[in-house]
Amino acid sequence: MAKLDGKVAIVTGASKGIGAGIALRLAADGASVVVNYARSADAAGLLVAAIKKAGGHATAVQADISEPDQIKTLFKKAVDEFGHVDILINNAGIYEFGDLAGVTPESIDRQFGLNVKGLILATQAAAETFPAAGGVVVNISSGAGVTPIAQAQVYSATKGAVDNLTRSLALELGPRKIRVVGVAPGLTATEGTSGMGEEGAAPFVARTPLGRIGQPADIAAAVAFVVSEDGNWITGETLQVGGGLRL
Ligand SMILES: NC(=O)c1ccc[n+]([C@@H]2O[C@H](COP(=O)([O-])OP(=O)(O)OC[C@H]3O[C@@H](n4cnc5c(N)ncnc54)[C@H](OP(=O)(O)O)[C@@H]3O)[C@@H](O)[C@H]2O)c1
Repeated sequence: MAKLDGKVAIVTGASKGIGAGIALRLAADGASVVVNYARSADAAGLLVAAIKKAGGHATAVQADISEPDQIKTLFKKAVDEFGHVDILINNAGIYEFGDLAGVTPESIDRQFGLNVKGLILATQAAAETFPAAGGVVVNISSGAGVTPIAQAQVYSATKGAVDNLTRSLALELGPRKIRVVGVAPGLTATEGTSGMGEEGAAPFVARTPLGRIGQPADIAAAVAFVVSEDGNWITGETLQVGGGLRL
């Protein structure tokens, strides 16, 4: 029997990058996976097809996680399809880089609206939906949550808030057997970071003891551990998963 047989997981922002890697891994470990996406229907559909071809169970559901009503619809569709939800991976997130002078009310709202507001409301929906036996929420943070990056002041602040929420929500939800755990990637090769190229990544690689940037599968392996029975004594903590990189 696979580790996550019988479990249902929602992975937000799973059409690409780290979220897609997590969806693939949780499905390989036996979970039925809801692949959430905002715009990339084709990519989400291809991922679902790949999971099914490998013998897994998955469905794609469109929902913009910065829109509260769409979060509710996502959970309803997940229950309609698979009957229950046991695991939520709060992965959907955006990062915008630039000087303080270029920060606008809109750029703040975009990043906080998805990375923080969306994460809180998705966790609220999960807490309402999880069975009495409990569940697990994983918040995908960033090393920038503890060591902020210059020119990513707003993004770093959203991830600092995520780490704080991991702790406060674990305190509140622990008595209901709901664990809340953070996983904080270092620089990881995804569609979102592909524009940096090798030259842009080089300074990060130079400061990474393990000497490379991460792959979505590296982050997914940590998530798979955290949501499994082997992680059942971990809550309220954020695991740094970046090859030893301190940003
Ligand atoms: N890559 C890194 O180096 C790195 C490092 C540390 C932390 N992280 C964190 O890891 C997470 C994923 O990053 P990534 O690099 O994999 O991102 P990415 O390659 O840019 O992919 C982003 C994913 O999020 C989805 N998404 C965007 N806006 C959404 C919304 N409003 N509602 C639902 N889904 C939405 C996208 O779906 P559509 O294409 O369908 O819109 C896509 O599947 C983020 O929380 C990020 O902060 C990344």
